Amino acid sequence: MASLNKRKPVIAGNWKMNKTVAEATELIVDLKKLLDDARGADVIVCPPLTALSAVSHALADTEIALGAQNMHWEKSGAFTGEVAPAMLRELFCHYVILGHSERRAYFCETDEIINRKIKAALANHLRPIFCVGETLEQRNAAQTEAVLAVQINEGLRDIDPVGLRQIIVAYEPVWAIGTGLTATPIMAQTAHAFIRGLLENLSDPKTAQSVRIQYGGSMKPENAAELLAQPDIDGGLIGGASLDADSFAAIVKAATLTT
Ligand code: PGA
Repeated sequence: MASLNKRKPVIAGNWKMNKTVAEATELIVDLKKLLDDARGADVIVCPPLTALSAVSHALADTEIALGAQNMHWEKSGAFTGEVAPAMLRELFCHYVILGHSERRAYFCETDEIINRKIKAALANHLRPIFCVGETLEQRNAAQTEAVLAVQINEGLRDIDPVGLRQIIVAYEPVWAIGTGLTATPIMAQTAHAFIRGLLENLSDPKTAQSVRIQYGGSMKPENAAELLAQPDIDGGLIGGASLDADSFAAIVKAATLTT
């Protein structure tokens, strides 16, 4: 396929509920040294909310972009514990992870809620990193494609091609997250190609070809290159391995080699 190399790889670190401000700042100092010449991939870090401001300052002179891990869809109001899109923009966040399986499973986020959040992010010039993926039970019951279809079609409901082009999709099989189990490159490629087909149904071939689809789920330096070599895998959403500067930088390097 001629178009496959046109998508710049994007590697995002999802730090989850890890790193104090001091630890976060230290990690950025190390990453800056290691990623000095990593121009072939877009790099994003998504620290916890408390560290966003400090990390934003620490990234000011770099090409590394800042993302948040969650967001409410309303502008402001009585939503104790939540954060609004404009509050993230104020900290120079350009991305926000939405629909992560941990938020779906532990915080009851539905496709409808995720759809509202995606629309709010786009309205506020934040690029969603929109996560989808099946559980082990669903995969074993041959429901992977049906589950992905619902998550994509409902999560992206009423979003036009202009909006879709702003979105990064992250395919994260739930059974691979934090487990050390990784989808094989073929398994992941099959799911990514299926997702791209769904995106095409929602828009047009050009839009679908332009959307970057990351793989997530125990991606690490040892398996990154073979996953990233697949034609429809355009990057990674990295949890555990993003907490260590050396391993995150090694994955970024693997991504730059695919370009
Ligand atoms: P993991 O997490 O790399 O630790 O499996 C990925 C994610 O949840 O985004």
